[in-house]
Amino acid sequence: MAFNQKDIISIRDFDKKDIEYILKIAVKMEPIARSKQSSDILFGKLLGMLFYEPSTRTRLSFEAAMKRLGGSTVGFAEAGTSSATKGENLTDTVRIVGDYSDAVVIRHNKEGTARFVADMVDVPVINAGDGAGQHPTQTLLDLFTMKRIFGKIDDLHISLLGDLKYGRTVHSLAYALAMFNVDVNFVSPRELKMPNEILHDLGKSGVEVYETDDIKEVLNKTDILYVTRIQKERFPDPQEYSRIKGAYTIDSKLLEGTDVIVMHPLPRVDEISHDVDNTKYGKYFEQAFYGVPVRMALLKLLIR
Ligand code: NCD
Repeated sequence: MAFNQKDIISIRDFDKKDIEYILKIAVKMEPIARSKQSSDILFGKLLGMLFYEPSTRTRLSFEAAMKRLGGSTVGFAEAGTSSATKGENLTDTVRIVGDYSDAVVIRHNKEGTARFVADMVDVPVINAGDGAGQHPTQTLLDLFTMKRIFGKIDDLHISLLGDLKYGRTVHSLAYALAMFNVDVNFVSPRELKMPNEILHDLGKSGVEVYETDDIKEVLNKTDILYVTRIQKERFPDPQEYSRIKGAYTIDSKLLEGTDVIVMHPLPRVDEISHDVDNTKYGKYFEQAFYGVPVRMALLKLLIR
């Protein structure tokens, strides 16, 4: 695929070769991300950042990525500080920021927003999360983490656990994993199962999926346990959230004697006990760091 000026809305915008190419460039970006080398390949370029929903890692790693490559960023971390509070509509805001910038990153609570915005601005638009929809750059860094730790993605046994209904990270990741030769388990409370539409698409791609609500059932055939937060903000009914929250807690006792590694897009609430953090199992901080080199690779490819 020709990356230059492309919009990145869904992980399905890529094929396996595209993903492998981005991950290869991300390897070269790592020393720059770690400040062991410097680069100014995006000198003079501006990244517009429109965050209508809270973010820590995604926003700051995009900023770090842009700045490590000599570029700069403009934008807001909270719509409350923008003219949205004066009643300005999304369309006007993104048109303007698109005109100011060489690419735009947007996060919004409504599914489909990034696609809508991409049709309106001339510069590349990157989806940093649209409601329960997609989060393609998170998936790229998830895959990069797997590759860095195991040296491969094919032949791995991967269990996605937690909120598979509302979690956009697992929606994107599931589609990406379908491009590889992997075993996939979905572990969730019954109420938070992976949406049927995604299960159907995965079936069509020939992926075999095993669904359960009991992590113990699949732990001994898991290389990677990808844990997610229950997405409180997406629940139509707060009582329903209260009933389900705390459904899983992964602690070091559960993992003892296994070779499982634990990933998580973060933020975590209580689904991974802090006693996992500094063990051989916990890889989520390393994973969060990889957001920088992976986003550097993507920005280099997209921005002219
Ligand atoms: C995730 C998100 O925003 O979808 N966070 C992230 O980008 N690392 C996960 C979450 O909020 O639970």
